[in-house]
Amino acid sequence: MCGIVGYTGAKKASAILIEGLKKLEYRGYDSAGVALQHDGRLVINKAAGSVADLEKSLDGNYKSIKVGIGHTRWATHGRPTDENAHPHCSCSEEIAVIHNGIIENHHSLRQWLKEDAGHNFRSETDTEVLAHLVEEYYEGDLLEAVRKATAKVEGSYALVVISSREPGRLICARQDSPLIIGLGEGENIVASDIPALLAHTRKTKVLEDGEFASITPENVDIFNSEGKLLNREIFEITWDIEAAEKGGYDHFMLKEIMEQPAAVKETMRQRINTASGKVDLSELGLNGEELTRLEKIHIVACGTAYHAGLLGKAVIEELAGIPVEVDVASEFRYRNPLLKENQLVVVISQSGETADTLAALRLSRQKGLKVLAITNVVGSSVSREADEVLYTWAGPEIAVASTKAYLTQLIALYLIAIYFGEIRGNLAPETAAKLVKNLRALPEKLKKILSEESLSKLRKYCDHLSSWDSAFFVGRNIDYPVALEGALKLKEISYIHAEAYAAGELKHGPLALIVEGIPVIALITQKAVFEKTLSNIQEVNARGGAVFAITQEGFNDVTKQVESVFSLPPVEDILAPVLAAVPTQLIAYYTALARGSSVDKPRNLAKSVTVE
Ligand code: M6R
Repeated sequence: MCGIVGYTGAKKASAILIEGLKKLEYRGYDSAGVALQHDGRLVINKAAGSVADLEKSLDGNYKSIKVGIGHTRWATHGRPTDENAHPHCSCSEEIAVIHNGIIENHHSLRQWLKEDAGHNFRSETDTEVLAHLVEEYYEGDLLEAVRKATAKVEGSYALVVISSREPGRLICARQDSPLIIGLGEGENIVASDIPALLAHTRKTKVLEDGEFASITPENVDIFNSEGKLLNREIFEITWDIEAAEKGGYDHFMLKEIMEQPAAVKETMRQRINTASGKVDLSELGLNGEELTRLEKIHIVACGTAYHAGLLGKAVIEELAGIPVEVDVASEFRYRNPLLKENQLVVVISQSGETADTLAALRLSRQKGLKVLAITNVVGSSVSREADEVLYTWAGPEIAVASTKAYLTQLIALYLIAIYFGEIRGNLAPETAAKLVKNLRALPEKLKKILSEESLSKLRKYCDHLSSWDSAFFVGRNIDYPVALEGALKLKEISYIHAEAYAAGELKHGPLALIVEGIPVIALITQKAVFEKTLSNIQEVNARGGAVFAITQEGFNDVTKQVESVFSLPPVEDILAPVLAAVPTQLIAYYTALARGSSVDKPRNLAKSVTVE
């Protein structure tokens, strides 16, 4: 949830830490701080506020300091105050710690450290116990002290620790929270996420759960929990630095929406055999016999990824003929799900670090089920722990509101449905071939939706929508998950209260809220339920609701009934959600702009939810 950077080398550490923290700021917004190692002491500078505030307070000072750690915080234990900002220090102020995660037994540790060992605490955070614990165990070797301290800890952590007594050395530890070490020439850098490293190096070593690292300008040594030195392969990052920056757009979200045609194409690339026109997911180690035996699939995810899963259910059931259950991960993990043999669990997570999704994955594996992960981040916890991984090749998604990752998750689910369907003999080859052809045509159709003409139409509509505090999204069949995702996007970044309903549910309650002019965004892209949805639109019209319909070109009866219509390029109905999602993303974006809200970093939210 928070952002972590540590540097040791020959350059000005504070500048490198600030630059790295800015790249990670989306992971934690409420406070920031650095600890710099200087002349046998630690210089701490931290406060509630943004990284830019921290940069101002450093005011170009500490030019000669070449070692330090930095942190951006998203509050979990303790309010966002100066005292609660990281780094946290030991009593002697010789040891400083930055931490991402949650120390679950921090109450009892704090009590012991205060009452029996005489330590003085300055913050309300769980993290501060780590600084005092390391101090308690320190006998001249920081690595050993961190190892002993973490042995007392229950919970999750990515930690970087420095001591004024060990110049040039960073000690790291990881449990259930990511840490990646970037390797340089005469310098090394550690961070909780790749964008903070890219300006310096593409060569990395990933720290695994239960491991520790000792980092100096010349060496990176990784140890297991018993202190055995490990040989870790170098992992080369292929992301372009530009790909992690805004690329000329005002916001990451808009940039990421615009990248969708390429992201969709990339996710299909190499998975569709252009010669045979067939989907080929042989990259998954699932054999035909296994797929034929499958009796049920459980899809588990959170937020937007969960909405992708709802569409996945419909398409897998339709194309592969396998019953699918979809669960929100935080419910799945605590509801004792009936997991049996001949079942498969599919977890979906953009970041691959969402705590509940990871817990659901682990639970499923404990119960003996195979887990297939759909994720966007190579080397993420989900990707490493799942049995099989299908990557979405969306590239780094920085905006908190997920857009391109969502669309590529949908593509991954179509590919799975078609592949499984063909192998199981549920999908006729000619039907599969037609679907594949239409899938491959989606990037061009997406480009049309992203034309200036469409954008200006949506901008105009959002001027109306932005003056309301409440809105509805409705749709039937596979338009319904798109409505759910559209409502989530709108509330997430514009702060308008938005609710999605299966259109047939309107008369079972929500119709009471339809008043003159209230915005209702109706998804009507499915021929099979066209007339039914149209009737629902008429019910809204009759009560004065202002319907904005998202439909397909050629569905002319909608245009007759509704004032504002956004027509998608014609598309095979089952694939319409990929196109229909885009105007809903743009509606959220332009409405947020019109209301002046913070598009890329909505209040109270973080990009990667690595705590429960
Ligand atoms: O990284 P994940 O896909 O596991 O994240 C799941 C949700 O936290 C995420 O989709 C969230 O709902 C988005 N901010 C929505 O735009």
